[in-house]
Amino acid sequence: MTGRVRAAEAGSPAPGVPGVPGARDGGGRAEALRALVDGLLASASPAGAEPPGSEPPGVASPPGTALSGSVEGPGALEPLLRAALAALEEGAARRGGPVPALEPGELAARVAGEYAAARGEGALPRLTSLLAYGSADPADPLCAAHLHCPPLAVAVAADLAVSALNPSQDSWDQAPAATTLETLLLAELAGMVGYGEEAAGVLTSGGTESNLMGLMLARDRVMGRASGRQVELEGVPRTGPRPRVFTSAAAHFSVQRAAALLGLGEDAVVPVGIDHAQRMDPGALAGALRRCAGAGELPVAVVATAGTTDTGTVDPLPECARLAAEYGAWFHVDAAYGGGALLSDRLAPLLDGVELADSVSLDWHKLGWQPVAAGVFLVRRAQTYASLARRAAYLNPRDDEEAGYPSLLGLSLRTTRRADGFSIAVTLRALGREGLGRLVDACHDLALAGAEAVRAHPRLELHADPVLTAFLFRYVPRGHGGPGRSGPGRADRINAALRRRLLREGRAVVGRTELPGEGPGRVRLKLTLLNPHATPSDVERLLEAVAEAGLAEERADERAGEQAGEESP
Ligand SMILES: Cc1ncc(COP(=O)(O)O)c(C=O)c1O
Repeated sequence: MTGRVRAAEAGSPAPGVPGVPGARDGGGRAEALRALVDGLLASASPAGAEPPGSEPPGVASPPGTALSGSVEGPGALEPLLRAALAALEEGAARRGGPVPALEPGELAARVAGEYAAARGEGALPRLTSLLAYGSADPADPLCAAHLHCPPLAVAVAADLAVSALNPSQDSWDQAPAATTLETLLLAELAGMVGYGEEAAGVLTSGGTESNLMGLMLARDRVMGRASGRQVELEGVPRTGPRPRVFTSAAAHFSVQRAAALLGLGEDAVVPVGIDHAQRMDPGALAGALRRCAGAGELPVAVVATAGTTDTGTVDPLPECARLAAEYGAWFHVDAAYGGGALLSDRLAPLLDGVELADSVSLDWHKLGWQPVAAGVFLVRRAQTYASLARRAAYLNPRDDEEAGYPSLLGLSLRTTRRADGFSIAVTLRALGREGLGRLVDACHDLALAGAEAVRAHPRLELHADPVLTAFLFRYVPRGHGGPGRSGPGRADRINAALRRRLLREGRAVVGRTELPGEGPGRVRLKLTLLNPHATPSDVERLLEAVAEAGLAEERADERAGEQAGEESP
C-alpha cells in the first residue's frame, strides 16, 4: 500500500460545505472524487486482473478472481483498496452529513439503479461509493441515535487482516494463531470483569447471542438440577414446576426472544418493576421471586442489565446477585452496553457486583469502537459451560486434543466463526485500557454536557441524567399541557415527526423510543453519544436542529389542525 488517496489530491475544494467540500449531490469536489474513483479503477491492475494468458498456465486468474491471502494477496488487494478507500471518501463527501438527505423510497430507487448498473471492475468503487453515500455514519457527530459506534480505524485495519486471511475459530487447523489469541483475549476480558482463572468465554455476534447463551446454560443447569434430567439431551421437561426468568421491564427484548428459542416461552419472563431512571427495583425483584417460589414455580435465572438500551441505567447488581443466589437461580448480567464502563476508572464502579454473575454479555461494537460483530460471552466457571460441549470427528477429534491441538468448538453455538476477537485484541494492545477509558470518559462527558444543554433549552425537556453516554429527552410544543390539541398525544406526534424530518433533510440521526407503561406522552428522543471526538458544541448543534425541526412540525401540525377546523393551542 503506498498510502491512502487523499481527497485533497482530487482538486480544489468547492466552497460552502463545512469540512466536506462539494458535499451533497453535484458538488465540484464530489465530482472530482468520483472522477478519481473511475480513473483509479481504470488504471488498477490487481494481480488477479491480468489478462488470462499473461501468466503460466495454472497461475493466471481471470479479472476479479485474485485471492486475498498468501504472499500475493496484499499485492492483489492494494489497487482494490486504493479504489475502495477513494470511493469511501467520495461517497461520504457526496453525502456531506450524517445521513443522505432523501426519503427512503428515493434512496431505494437510487440503490436499485446503481446496483443494476454496477458491472465488472467498476462494481467495487461504484457500490462502495453508494454504500458510503447511503450510510448513516456514526463518525458524524450528528449521528447519535443508537448503540451504533464509529469504529476505530485501527480496529477496521485489523478486521481487514481477518477478512484477508479468513480464519475460522471452530478448529485449530483453520485458525492456529487466532485460536490462541482469542483465548488470551478472553482471559484478559474475564480479568476486567473481575472473574478468576476458572472463567471461560467466546466471541459472539452480539448481545442477542450472548444473552441466549447465558439463558441456555441457566436452563440446562437449573432445570437439569430440578428435574434430574440432562435438558440439552432430553429437552425441556413437560411436567414439573413452571420455569421463570426475572428481568427488568427495561431489559433488552433479546431476553424474551431467548426464552422463546429455549422452549421456555416468552411468557416465562417476569418483567420486574423499575424506577424513573429505568433501574430494576430490588424490592420488586424480591417480591417477584417470593411469589414465584410460593406458587411452586422454578426461578431459572435473574437477568440484570448493566447499561439499559435507552438510558444506560445499571441495575443494582449486588442485590440482584444476592437474590438470585437465595432462590437458586442463575445470575446473568447483560452488560452489552455498560461493559464499556469497565474500561474507565471513573465509571467502572457502576458495575461493582458484575463479578458475582454466573455469566456476562459484553459488546465491543457498542461502547468499544469495534466494527460489528464484536460480542463477548463469559462465564465465571468453565465447568458451567458443560451443556455446549460438542465433539465433531472432523473438527475436534479427541486424539487431536490429546496431542495438544486445542478447540474452541464447544464454547460457541456456531460452527464456522470469524476471528472477531482480533480487532479487539489489536485495539486493546494499541490503546491500552487507559486509552480506551479516555474515549469512554469523553463520551460520558459529552452526555453530561448534552443533558445540561437540554436543561438550559426552553423547548426541550430532559427525562433523567445520563448514567453512561445516553439520555432521553423530548421537544415540548408551545402550550403543552394546556387544553385541546396541546396534550401529550400531540407532543408524541410532533416528536415522532421531527425525528423523521431530520432524517429526510439529512440533518441528524436521533433515536426515538417510548417510556415503559401505557398511554400518550411516552414518546422520547434519545441521544446515544459514542463519538469520542464530538464536542459539546456539536451536541448543542444537534439539539438546535431538533428544536428547529420541532418548531417546523408544530407549525405543520397547527396548519393541519386549522384545516380540520380545530383551535390553535
Ligand atoms: C442492553 C442490550 N442487550 C442486548 C442487546 C442486543 O445486542 P446485539 O444487537 O449486539 O445483538 C442490545 C442492543 O442494543 C442492548 O442494548
